[in-house]
Amino acid sequence: MRISVVGTGYLGAVHAVCMAHLGHEVSAYDTDAAKIDRLASGASPFYEPGFEEMLAEVLTTGRLHFTHDPKEAVSGAAVHFVCVGTPQSPGSNAADVRYVNSAVAMIAEHADSPGLVVGKSTVPVGTAQRLSDELAGTAASDLLELSWNPEFLREGKAIEDTLHPDRLIFGVTSEHAEKTLQQVYSRLIEAGTPHLTTDLATAEMVKVAANSFLATKISFINAMAEVCELVNADVVTLGRALGYDERIGRKFLNAGLGFGGGCLPKDIRAFSARAGELGASDSLTFLHEVDKINVRRREKAVTVAGAMLGGDCLGKNVAVLGAAFKPNSDDVRDSPALNVAAALHLKGADVRVHDPRAISNAKAIFPTLTYCETVEDACRNVDLIVLATEWDEYCAIDPVAFRSLVRQPRLLDTRNAIDRDYWVGAGWSVYALGRGAMAPTTKAE
Ligand SMILES: NC(=O)c1ccc[n+]([C@@H]2O[C@H](COP(=O)([O-])OP(=O)(O)OC[C@H]3O[C@@H](n4cnc5c(N)ncnc54)[C@H](O)[C@@H]3O)[C@@H](O)[C@H]2O)c1
Repeated sequence: MRISVVGTGYLGAVHAVCMAHLGHEVSAYDTDAAKIDRLASGASPFYEPGFEEMLAEVLTTGRLHFTHDPKEAVSGAAVHFVCVGTPQSPGSNAADVRYVNSAVAMIAEHADSPGLVVGKSTVPVGTAQRLSDELAGTAASDLLELSWNPEFLREGKAIEDTLHPDRLIFGVTSEHAEKTLQQVYSRLIEAGTPHLTTDLATAEMVKVAANSFLATKISFINAMAEVCELVNADVVTLGRALGYDERIGRKFLNAGLGFGGGCLPKDIRAFSARAGELGASDSLTFLHEVDKINVRRREKAVTVAGAMLGGDCLGKNVAVLGAAFKPNSDDVRDSPALNVAAALHLKGADVRVHDPRAISNAKAIFPTLTYCETVEDACRNVDLIVLATEWDEYCAIDPVAFRSLVRQPRLLDTRNAIDRDYWVGAGWSVYALGRGAMAPTTKAE
Protein backbone atom coordinates (compact mmCIF):
# COMPACT_ATOMS: atom_id res chain seq x y z
CA MET A 1 0.00 0.00 0.00
CA ARG A 2 1.15 3.55 -0.62
CA ILE A 3 1.24 5.37 2.74
CA SER A 4 2.17 8.89 3.81
CA VAL A 5 3.39 9.68 7.33
CA VAL A 6 3.08 13.30 8.46
CA GLY A 7 5.32 14.15 11.41
CA THR A 8 8.51 12.16 11.97
CA GLY A 9 9.19 12.57 15.70
CA TYR A 10 9.50 9.63 18.10
CA LEU A 11 6.14 8.25 16.99
CA GLY A 12 6.11 9.12 13.28
CA ALA A 13 9.65 8.07 12.41
CA VAL A 14 9.22 4.69 14.11
CA HIS A 15 5.83 4.24 12.47
CA ALA A 16 7.17 5.11 9.00
CA VAL A 17 10.06 2.69 9.34
CA CYS A 18 7.85 -0.11 10.68
CA MET A 19 5.25 0.39 7.93
CA ALA A 20 8.01 0.09 5.31
CA HIS A 21 9.34 -2.96 7.15
CA LEU A 22 5.87 -4.51 6.83
CA GLY A 23 6.08 -4.05 3.04
CA HIS A 24 4.28 -0.75 2.43
CA GLU A 25 5.56 2.07 0.21
CA VAL A 26 6.04 4.95 2.64
CA SER A 27 6.62 8.62 2.05
CA ALA A 28 7.38 10.62 5.22
CA TYR A 29 7.22 14.37 5.73
CA ASP A 30 7.99 16.72 8.62
CA THR A 31 8.03 20.52 8.84
CA ASP A 32 11.47 20.16 10.49
CA ALA A 33 13.69 19.95 7.39
CA ALA A 34 16.82 19.04 9.39
CA LYS A 35 15.01 16.03 10.87
CA ILE A 36 14.00 14.85 7.41
CA ASP A 37 17.59 15.22 6.13
CA ARG A 38 18.93 13.26 9.08
CA LEU A 39 16.45 10.45 8.62
CA ALA A 40 17.03 10.36 4.85
CA SER A 41 20.77 9.94 5.50
CA GLY A 42 20.05 6.94 7.73
CA ALA A 43 20.77 8.72 11.01
CA SER A 44 18.23 8.86 13.82
CA PRO A 45 17.31 12.24 15.36
CA PHE A 46 16.71 10.40 18.67
CA TYR A 47 17.94 7.32 20.49
CA GLU A 48 15.71 4.30 20.19
CA PRO A 49 17.11 0.77 20.44
CA GLY A 50 17.02 -1.02 17.07
CA PHE A 51 15.66 1.99 15.20
CA GLU A 52 18.73 2.98 13.22
CA GLU A 53 19.32 -0.62 12.14
CA MET A 54 15.76 -0.96 10.86
CA LEU A 55 15.94 2.48 9.20
CA ALA A 56 19.05 1.35 7.30
CA GLU A 57 17.34 -1.90 6.30
CA VAL A 58 14.21 -0.24 4.89
CA LEU A 59 16.12 2.58 3.17
CA THR A 60 17.99 -0.01 1.12
CA THR A 61 14.69 -1.60 -0.01
CA GLY A 62 13.64 1.75 -1.54
CA ARG A 63 10.24 1.43 0.17
CA LEU A 64 10.85 4.38 2.51
CA HIS A 65 11.31 7.88 1.24
CA PHE A 66 11.71 11.14 3.22
CA THR A 67 10.67 14.40 1.64
CA HIS A 68 10.59 18.16 2.35
CA ASP A 69 7.67 18.50 -0.02
CA PRO A 70 4.23 17.90 1.53
CA LYS A 71 2.62 17.45 -1.87
CA GLU A 72 5.09 14.73 -2.80
CA ALA A 73 4.41 12.94 0.51
CA VAL A 74 0.63 13.04 0.16
CA SER A 75 0.19 12.56 -3.57
CA GLY A 76 -1.13 9.13 -4.52
CA ALA A 77 -1.19 7.74 -0.97
CA ALA A 78 -4.14 5.55 0.05
CA VAL A 79 -3.50 6.14 3.76
CA HIS A 80 -2.16 9.25 5.52
CA PHE A 81 -0.93 8.78 9.08
CA VAL A 82 -1.00 11.93 11.21
CA CYS A 83 1.81 11.61 13.78
CA VAL A 84 2.51 15.24 14.75
CA GLY A 85 2.98 16.49 18.31
CA THR A 86 0.18 17.51 20.70
CA PRO A 87 2.13 19.25 23.48
CA GLN A 88 0.67 20.99 26.50
CA SER A 89 -0.63 24.44 25.50
CA PRO A 90 1.43 27.34 26.73
CA GLY A 91 -0.29 28.77 29.82
CA SER A 92 -2.91 26.02 30.19
CA ASN A 93 -3.25 22.30 30.81
CA ALA A 94 -5.10 21.67 27.55
CA ALA A 95 -3.49 19.95 24.57
CA ASP A 96 -2.25 22.19 21.80
CA VAL A 97 -3.85 20.66 18.70
CA ARG A 98 -2.68 23.26 16.21
CA TYR A 99 -0.15 20.86 14.62
CA VAL A 100 -2.82 18.21 14.10
CA ASN A 101 -5.13 20.82 12.57
CA SER A 102 -2.47 22.02 10.14
CA ALA A 103 -1.35 18.49 9.25
CA VAL A 104 -4.92 17.48 8.31
CA ALA A 105 -5.42 20.75 6.41
CA MET A 106 -2.17 20.11 4.53
CA ILE A 107 -3.29 16.59 3.56
CA ALA A 108 -6.65 17.99 2.35
CA GLU A 109 -4.84 20.61 0.28
CA HIS A 110 -2.56 18.15 -1.50
CA ALA A 111 -4.57 14.91 -1.74
CA ASP A 112 -5.10 13.94 -5.36
CA SER A 113 -6.60 10.45 -4.96
CA PRO A 114 -8.99 8.70 -2.56
CA GLY A 115 -7.40 8.16 0.83
CA LEU A 116 -7.96 7.50 4.52
CA VAL A 117 -6.58 10.07 6.97
CA VAL A 118 -5.56 8.13 10.09
CA GLY A 119 -4.88 10.11 13.25
CA LYS A 120 -2.29 8.56 15.56
CA SER A 121 -1.48 11.58 17.73
CA THR A 122 -3.03 11.68 21.21
CA VAL A 123 -5.83 14.23 21.08
CA PRO A 124 -8.67 15.56 23.25
CA VAL A 125 -11.85 13.52 22.84
CA GLY A 126 -13.96 15.08 20.11
CA THR A 127 -11.03 16.23 17.96
CA ALA A 128 -11.47 13.46 15.39
CA GLN A 129 -15.17 14.24 14.88
CA ARG A 130 -14.37 17.96 14.53
CA LEU A 131 -11.63 17.23 11.98
CA SER A 132 -13.93 14.88 10.11
CA ASP A 133 -16.58 17.62 9.91
CA GLU A 134 -13.96 20.12 8.77
CA LEU A 135 -12.70 17.74 6.07
CA ALA A 136 -16.25 17.43 4.78
CA GLY A 137 -16.20 21.17 4.09
CA THR A 138 -13.00 21.11 2.00
CA ALA A 139 -12.44 20.54 -1.70
CA ALA A 140 -11.04 17.10 -0.79
CA SER A 141 -14.32 15.98 0.82
CA ASP A 142 -14.95 13.45 -1.98
CA LEU A 143 -11.46 12.01 -1.67
CA LEU A 144 -10.73 11.84 2.04
CA GLU A 145 -12.24 10.12 5.05
CA LEU A 146 -10.97 10.41 8.62
CA SER A 147 -10.33 7.70 11.21
CA TRP A 148 -8.41 7.44 14.49
CA ASN A 149 -5.90 4.74 15.35
CA PRO A 150 -4.27 5.74 18.67
CA GLU A 151 -0.69 4.71 19.36
CA PHE A 152 0.46 2.95 22.51
CA LEU A 153 4.18 2.50 21.84
CA ARG A 154 6.67 3.01 24.66
CA GLU A 155 9.91 4.85 23.99
CA GLY A 156 12.77 2.41 24.46
CA LYS A 157 10.58 -0.43 23.12
CA ALA A 158 9.04 1.44 20.22
CA ILE A 159 9.89 -0.99 17.42
CA GLU A 160 8.74 -4.03 19.37
CA ASP A 161 5.54 -2.22 20.40
CA THR A 162 4.77 -1.14 16.82
CA LEU A 163 5.34 -4.55 15.29
CA HIS A 164 3.86 -6.54 18.18
CA PRO A 165 1.30 -4.25 19.82
CA ASP A 166 -0.95 -5.44 22.65
CA ARG A 167 -3.94 -4.34 20.57
CA LEU A 168 -4.96 -2.25 17.57
CA ILE A 169 -7.80 0.24 17.90
CA PHE A 170 -9.62 1.32 14.75
CA GLY A 171 -11.88 4.34 15.32
CA VAL A 172 -13.86 4.57 12.08
CA THR A 173 -17.07 5.86 10.55
CA SER A 174 -17.37 3.36 7.69
CA GLU A 175 -16.74 -0.24 6.76
CA HIS A 176 -14.37 0.94 4.05
CA ALA A 177 -12.17 2.68 6.66
CA GLU A 178 -12.18 -0.45 8.83
CA LYS A 179 -11.18 -2.65 5.87
CA THR A 180 -8.42 -0.23 4.89
CA LEU A 181 -6.93 -0.30 8.39
CA GLN A 182 -7.18 -4.09 8.45
CA GLN A 183 -5.24 -4.13 5.20
CA VAL A 184 -2.55 -1.77 6.56
CA TYR A 185 -2.05 -4.00 9.59
CA SER A 186 -2.81 -7.33 7.90
CA ARG A 187 0.48 -8.93 8.93
CA LEU A 188 -0.04 -8.00 12.58
CA ILE A 189 -3.64 -9.19 12.52
CA GLU A 190 -2.61 -12.49 10.90
CA ALA A 191 -0.06 -12.87 13.71
CA GLY A 192 -2.92 -12.71 16.22
CA THR A 193 -2.87 -9.08 17.40
CA PRO A 194 -6.26 -8.27 18.97
CA HIS A 195 -8.03 -5.50 17.06
CA LEU A 196 -11.11 -3.57 18.05
CA THR A 197 -13.25 -1.43 15.80
CA THR A 198 -14.88 1.53 17.52
CA ASP A 199 -16.40 4.93 16.81
CA LEU A 200 -14.07 7.94 16.72
CA ALA A 201 -14.67 9.13 20.30
CA THR A 202 -14.13 5.68 21.83
CA ALA A 203 -10.82 5.32 19.98
CA GLU A 204 -9.66 8.66 21.38
CA MET A 205 -10.89 7.65 24.86
CA VAL A 206 -8.95 4.35 24.81
CA LYS A 207 -5.67 6.22 24.59
CA VAL A 208 -6.28 8.86 27.26
CA ALA A 209 -7.97 6.34 29.58
CA ALA A 210 -5.01 3.94 29.25
CA ASN A 211 -2.50 6.67 30.07
CA SER A 212 -4.63 7.86 32.99
CA PHE A 213 -4.76 4.33 34.39
CA LEU A 214 -0.99 3.84 34.07
CA ALA A 215 -0.26 7.22 35.68
CA THR A 216 -2.68 6.40 38.49
CA LYS A 217 -0.98 3.08 39.15
CA ILE A 218 2.42 4.76 39.42
CA SER A 219 1.10 7.49 41.70
CA PHE A 220 -0.74 4.89 43.78
CA ILE A 221 2.47 3.06 44.67
CA ASN A 222 4.23 6.39 45.20
CA ALA A 223 1.47 7.46 47.60
CA MET A 224 2.07 4.16 49.41
CA ALA A 225 5.78 5.06 49.46
CA GLU A 226 4.96 8.30 51.27
CA VAL A 227 3.13 6.37 53.97
CA CYS A 228 5.74 3.58 54.11
CA GLU A 229 8.43 6.10 54.93
CA LEU A 230 6.44 7.34 57.93
CA VAL A 231 5.98 3.87 59.42
CA ASN A 232 9.33 2.34 58.38
CA ALA A 233 7.65 -0.06 55.97
CA ASP A 234 9.28 -1.17 52.72
CA VAL A 235 7.47 -0.08 49.54
CA VAL A 236 9.50 -2.40 47.32
CA THR A 237 8.32 -5.47 49.21
CA LEU A 238 4.81 -3.98 49.32
CA GLY A 239 4.78 -3.60 45.50
CA ARG A 240 5.95 -7.20 45.07
CA ALA A 241 3.34 -8.49 47.49
CA LEU A 242 0.53 -6.53 45.83
CA GLY A 243 1.64 -7.66 42.39
CA TYR A 244 1.00 -11.34 43.15
CA ASP A 245 -2.70 -10.48 43.20
CA GLU A 246 -3.76 -11.06 39.59
CA ARG A 247 -6.47 -8.43 39.90
CA ILE A 248 -3.77 -5.84 40.65
CA GLY A 249 -0.76 -7.05 38.65
CA ARG A 250 2.94 -6.35 39.23
CA LYS A 251 3.62 -3.89 36.40
CA PHE A 252 3.76 -0.14 37.08
CA LEU A 253 4.03 -0.76 40.82
CA ASN A 254 7.66 0.34 41.12
CA ALA A 255 7.87 3.20 43.59
CA GLY A 256 10.38 5.89 42.80
CA LEU A 257 10.73 9.30 41.26
CA GLY A 258 7.49 9.06 39.31
CA PHE A 259 6.61 9.47 35.68
CA GLY A 260 7.72 12.06 33.15
CA GLY A 261 8.34 12.26 29.42
CA GLY A 262 6.43 13.66 26.50
CA CYS A 263 3.21 11.71 27.14
CA LEU A 264 1.86 10.79 30.60
CA PRO A 265 2.15 14.20 32.33
CA LYS A 266 0.69 16.24 29.48
CA ASP A 267 -1.89 13.59 28.58
CA ILE A 268 -3.48 13.42 32.04
CA ARG A 269 -3.54 17.22 32.25
CA ALA A 270 -5.10 17.53 28.79
CA PHE A 271 -7.68 14.87 29.68
CA SER A 272 -8.66 16.77 32.83
CA ALA A 273 -8.87 20.02 30.87
CA ARG A 274 -11.07 18.35 28.27
CA ALA A 275 -13.31 16.89 30.97
CA GLY A 276 -13.73 20.43 32.31
CA GLU A 277 -14.83 21.64 28.89
CA LEU A 278 -17.31 18.77 28.69
CA GLY A 279 -18.74 19.56 32.14
CA ALA A 280 -17.25 16.40 33.65
CA SER A 281 -14.46 17.84 35.83
CA ASP A 282 -15.71 15.90 38.86
CA SER A 283 -15.15 12.60 37.04
CA LEU A 284 -11.43 13.28 36.72
CA THR A 285 -10.52 15.21 39.89
CA PHE A 286 -8.48 12.16 40.93
CA LEU A 287 -6.07 12.87 38.05
CA HIS A 288 -5.15 16.14 39.74
CA GLU A 289 -4.13 14.13 42.83
CA VAL A 290 -2.23 11.68 40.63
CA ASP A 291 -0.30 14.63 39.17
CA LYS A 292 0.35 16.15 42.62
CA ILE A 293 1.67 12.88 44.06
CA ASN A 294 3.93 12.57 41.04
CA VAL A 295 5.37 16.07 41.39
CA ARG A 296 5.84 15.52 45.16
CA ARG A 297 8.28 12.66 44.46
CA ARG A 298 10.65 15.10 42.80
CA GLU A 299 10.36 17.48 45.77
CA LYS A 300 10.90 14.58 48.17
CA ALA A 301 14.08 13.55 46.35
CA VAL A 302 15.45 17.10 46.59
CA THR A 303 14.57 17.31 50.31
CA VAL A 304 16.22 13.96 51.05
CA ALA A 305 19.30 14.94 49.05
CA GLY A 306 19.56 18.16 51.08
CA ALA A 307 19.25 16.23 54.34
CA MET A 308 21.91 13.71 53.23
CA LEU A 309 24.20 16.68 52.56
CA GLY A 310 23.78 17.86 56.15
CA GLY A 311 20.99 20.33 55.43
CA ASP A 312 23.04 22.59 53.18
CA CYS A 313 23.64 22.00 49.47
CA LEU A 314 25.87 25.03 49.01
CA GLY A 315 29.36 24.08 47.93
CA LYS A 316 28.58 20.36 47.91
CA ASN A 317 29.37 18.18 44.92
CA VAL A 318 26.52 16.03 43.68
CA ALA A 319 26.45 13.49 40.85
CA VAL A 320 23.06 13.00 39.22
CA LEU A 321 23.05 9.75 37.25
CA GLY A 322 20.47 10.00 34.52
CA ALA A 323 18.90 12.84 32.56
CA ALA A 324 16.44 10.96 30.33
CA PHE A 325 12.93 10.50 31.72
CA LYS A 326 13.49 6.75 31.57
CA PRO A 327 16.24 4.33 30.54
CA ASN A 328 16.81 3.39 26.88
CA SER A 329 15.63 6.80 25.70
CA ASP A 330 17.25 10.18 25.12
CA ASP A 331 13.95 11.97 25.74
CA VAL A 332 14.26 14.63 28.44
CA ARG A 333 10.78 16.12 28.11
CA ASP A 334 9.48 16.69 31.65
CA SER A 335 12.24 14.44 32.98
CA PRO A 336 12.09 13.89 36.76
CA ALA A 337 15.85 13.27 36.78
CA LEU A 338 16.66 16.62 35.18
CA ASN A 339 14.18 18.42 37.42
CA VAL A 340 15.97 17.06 40.49
CA ALA A 341 19.38 17.99 39.05
CA ALA A 342 18.21 21.54 38.29
CA ALA A 343 16.63 21.96 41.75
CA LEU A 344 19.84 20.85 43.51
CA HIS A 345 21.81 23.24 41.32
CA LEU A 346 19.47 26.07 42.35
CA LYS A 347 20.12 25.20 45.99
CA GLY A 348 23.82 25.81 45.45
CA ALA A 349 25.14 22.29 44.81
CA ASP A 350 27.76 21.72 42.13
CA VAL A 351 25.74 19.21 40.09
CA ARG A 352 27.43 16.90 37.58
CA VAL A 353 25.01 15.06 35.32
CA HIS A 354 25.72 11.88 33.41
CA ASP A 355 23.48 10.06 30.98
CA PRO A 356 24.50 7.45 28.38
CA ARG A 357 22.31 9.03 25.66
CA ALA A 358 20.50 12.18 26.72
CA ILE A 359 23.28 14.70 27.42
CA SER A 360 22.86 16.82 24.32
CA ASN A 361 19.07 17.05 24.79
CA ALA A 362 19.58 17.88 28.48
CA LYS A 363 22.15 20.59 27.66
CA ALA A 364 19.61 22.28 25.39
CA ILE A 365 17.18 22.64 28.32
CA PHE A 366 19.57 23.16 31.27
CA PRO A 367 22.81 24.52 29.82
CA THR A 368 24.10 25.69 33.22
CA LEU A 369 24.48 22.19 34.70
CA THR A 370 27.83 20.40 34.38
CA TYR A 371 27.69 17.38 32.09
CA CYS A 372 30.17 14.51 32.28
CA GLU A 373 31.23 12.01 29.63
CA THR A 374 31.68 9.11 32.03
CA VAL A 375 29.99 7.94 35.22
CA GLU A 376 33.39 8.03 36.93
CA ASP A 377 33.92 11.70 35.98
CA ALA A 378 30.46 12.56 37.33
CA CYS A 379 31.07 10.76 40.63
CA ARG A 380 34.67 11.79 41.31
CA ASN A 381 34.93 13.67 44.61
CA VAL A 382 31.19 14.01 45.17
CA ASP A 383 29.39 14.22 48.49
CA LEU A 384 26.33 12.44 47.15
CA ILE A 385 25.29 10.32 44.19
CA VAL A 386 21.66 10.58 43.11
CA LEU A 387 20.56 7.67 40.94
CA ALA A 388 17.76 9.33 38.99
CA THR A 389 17.23 7.18 35.86
CA GLU A 390 17.64 3.42 36.15
CA TRP A 391 19.95 2.75 33.20
CA ASP A 392 21.46 -0.77 33.44
CA GLU A 393 24.97 0.65 33.69
CA TYR A 394 24.08 2.51 36.89
CA CYS A 395 22.49 -0.57 38.42
CA ALA A 396 25.74 -2.42 37.66
CA ILE A 397 28.04 0.11 39.42
CA ASP A 398 30.45 -1.60 41.78
CA PRO A 399 30.02 0.17 45.15
CA VAL A 400 33.38 -1.13 46.34
CA ALA A 401 35.26 0.44 43.42
CA PHE A 402 33.23 3.66 43.57
CA ARG A 403 33.82 4.17 47.29
CA SER A 404 37.37 5.32 46.64
CA LEU A 405 36.18 7.68 43.90
CA VAL A 406 33.77 9.78 45.93
CA ARG A 407 34.36 12.22 48.80
CA GLN A 408 31.46 10.81 50.82
CA PRO A 409 29.95 7.36 50.18
CA ARG A 410 26.31 8.43 50.07
CA LEU A 411 23.71 7.27 47.56
CA LEU A 412 20.16 8.43 47.04
CA ASP A 413 18.43 5.71 45.02
CA THR A 414 15.31 7.42 43.69
CA ARG A 415 14.35 4.43 41.53
CA ASN A 416 14.84 1.54 43.94
CA ALA A 417 17.17 0.15 41.33
CA ILE A 418 20.29 -0.98 43.20
CA ASP A 419 20.95 -3.78 45.65
CA ARG A 420 20.71 -1.70 48.80
CA ASP A 421 22.14 -4.35 51.15
CA TYR A 422 25.17 -4.79 48.93
CA TRP A 423 25.83 -1.05 48.87
CA VAL A 424 25.50 -0.57 52.63
CA GLY A 425 27.70 -3.63 53.07
CA ALA A 426 30.31 -1.84 50.96
CA GLY A 427 30.28 1.14 53.31
CA TRP A 428 27.66 3.41 51.77
CA SER A 429 24.85 5.36 53.40
CA VAL A 430 21.87 4.66 51.19
CA TYR A 431 18.48 6.32 51.09
CA ALA A 432 15.93 4.60 48.88
CA LEU A 433 12.69 6.49 48.16
CA GLY A 434 9.86 4.69 49.93
CA ARG A 435 12.26 2.55 51.98
CA GLY A 436 14.09 5.20 53.98
CA ALA A 437 17.71 5.51 55.14
CA MET A 438 20.22 2.75 55.77
CA ALA A 439 23.55 3.41 57.41
CA PRO A 440 26.67 1.62 56.19
CA THR A 441 27.43 -1.70 57.84
CA THR A 442 31.17 -1.16 57.26
CA LYS A 443 33.04 2.06 57.93
CA ALA A 444 34.05 4.38 55.09
CA GLU A 445 37.82 4.56 54.68
N1 LIG B 1 6.54 9.52 21.96
C1 LIG B 1 5.76 8.52 22.36
O1 LIG B 1 6.20 7.59 23.05
C2 LIG B 1 4.31 8.49 21.98
C3 LIG B 1 3.55 7.32 22.20
C4 LIG B 1 2.22 7.30 21.87
C5 LIG B 1 1.60 8.46 21.37
N2 LIG B 1 2.36 9.59 21.21
C6 LIG B 1 1.70 10.78 20.68
O2 LIG B 1 2.15 10.95 19.35
C7 LIG B 1 2.22 12.33 19.02
C8 LIG B 1 3.63 12.67 18.58
O3 LIG B 1 4.50 12.46 19.65
P1 LIG B 1 6.08 12.46 19.47
O4 LIG B 1 6.66 12.03 20.77
O5 LIG B 1 6.44 11.72 18.23
O6 LIG B 1 6.34 14.04 19.26
P2 LIG B 1 7.64 14.73 18.63
O7 LIG B 1 7.64 16.10 19.19
O8 LIG B 1 8.83 13.85 18.82
O9 LIG B 1 7.32 14.77 17.06
C9 LIG B 1 6.33 15.56 16.50
C10 LIG B 1 6.79 15.93 15.09
O10 LIG B 1 5.75 16.54 14.39
C11 LIG B 1 6.34 17.50 13.52
N3 LIG B 1 5.31 18.41 13.02
C12 LIG B 1 4.62 19.38 13.70
N4 LIG B 1 3.72 19.96 12.90
C13 LIG B 1 3.82 19.35 11.68
C14 LIG B 1 3.11 19.47 10.46
N5 LIG B 1 2.11 20.35 10.32
N6 LIG B 1 3.47 18.69 9.43
C15 LIG B 1 4.48 17.80 9.58
N7 LIG B 1 5.16 17.61 10.71
C16 LIG B 1 4.83 18.37 11.77
C17 LIG B 1 7.41 18.14 14.38
O11 LIG B 1 8.36 18.83 13.62
C18 LIG B 1 7.98 16.91 15.08
O12 LIG B 1 9.05 16.34 14.37
C19 LIG B 1 1.76 13.07 20.28
O13 LIG B 1 0.39 13.31 20.20
C20 LIG B 1 2.05 12.08 21.38
O14 LIG B 1 1.26 12.30 22.52
C21 LIG B 1 3.70 9.63 21.47
